[in-house]
Amino acid sequence: MTRAIDIAQVSYEAPDLALMERFLTDFGLSRIAHEKDALYMRGAGRQHHLHVTRRAAQARFVGASFEMSDEADLDALAALPGSSPVMESDEPGGGLVVRMTMPDGFEIRAVYGRAGAEPMPVKAPNHFNDGVFKRRIGSTVRTQRAPCQALRLGHVVLHVSDHDASVRWLQQRFDLLPSDHFLPPGQDGPVIGTFLRFNRGADCVDHHCMLVLQSNKVGVHHCSFEVQDVDAVMGAHDFLTAQGYQLDCGVGRHLLGSQIFDYWKDPFGFRVEHYTDGDVVDASHRPGTFNGTACETTQWGMEPPPEFFE
Ligand SMILES: [Fe+2]
Repeated sequence: MTRAIDIAQVSYEAPDLALMERFLTDFGLSRIAHEKDALYMRGAGRQHHLHVTRRAAQARFVGASFEMSDEADLDALAALPGSSPVMESDEPGGGLVVRMTMPDGFEIRAVYGRAGAEPMPVKAPNHFNDGVFKRRIGSTVRTQRAPCQALRLGHVVLHVSDHDASVRWLQQRFDLLPSDHFLPPGQDGPVIGTFLRFNRGADCVDHHCMLVLQSNKVGVHHCSFEVQDVDAVMGAHDFLTAQGYQLDCGVGRHLLGSQIFDYWKDPFGFRVEHYTDGDVVDASHRPGTFNGTACETTQWGMEPPPEFFE
């Protein structure tokens, strides 16, 4: 079984790379490379880049890339129908890549051997003094309304025309495990959404690296970047508000995955999320099911607007 160990990047097309760079910089990413027709933005962590925008007349979500555990995985993936051969990546950081096309046309790339980025110094978390457990002794919290650091790409959410086919396609290639299933409100089936996570055995991973949702509106729903703590989320929220960016939904806490979330729209209308304090589980976690209403997916905070669920 071929196995992915991390989500490496999301890729888009857009007509104005400078506009995208300004937004993503304010959102907490940093430019690592800028070619004439492509922008590469990194986070603070080890992945060479996390967000790619290629210049094109129309804005479009292209797809996502997964980092594989073994070079031999690329050979196995290349042998599957519809896959490209193993190729040298044409992106900064290099490495090897296999290009595949998911049902509904999303480009999914498996990468191996890409150069890492030198991790950036990261602001330490502000320790939280719980009611009964005090971790911050004799020190203060001092935080700012300022861009936060996007530490890493956490997940991407796709709307697909055939949930079962898309989940099967992803699981067969990347050994992803289901963490939770969505059912229609009040019903016992069918499954209309699946949260998928990496299989890293006894090591804990995020509750999901991908969510696949049945929908009439095929496309990306959002991509999401982890930030350090709730002060980072809130300071960035105030900063992005002051810059005049379009808030989509936040701040709040999700039910499935438990993340504290904050959703914004980039200049081309794509939804991007900051999150912190998400659930982590190992490979022994068994999926649950949820058949509540859309509103019940938010535990507190701003409830998403109706179009969030379209
Ligand atoms: Fe999310």
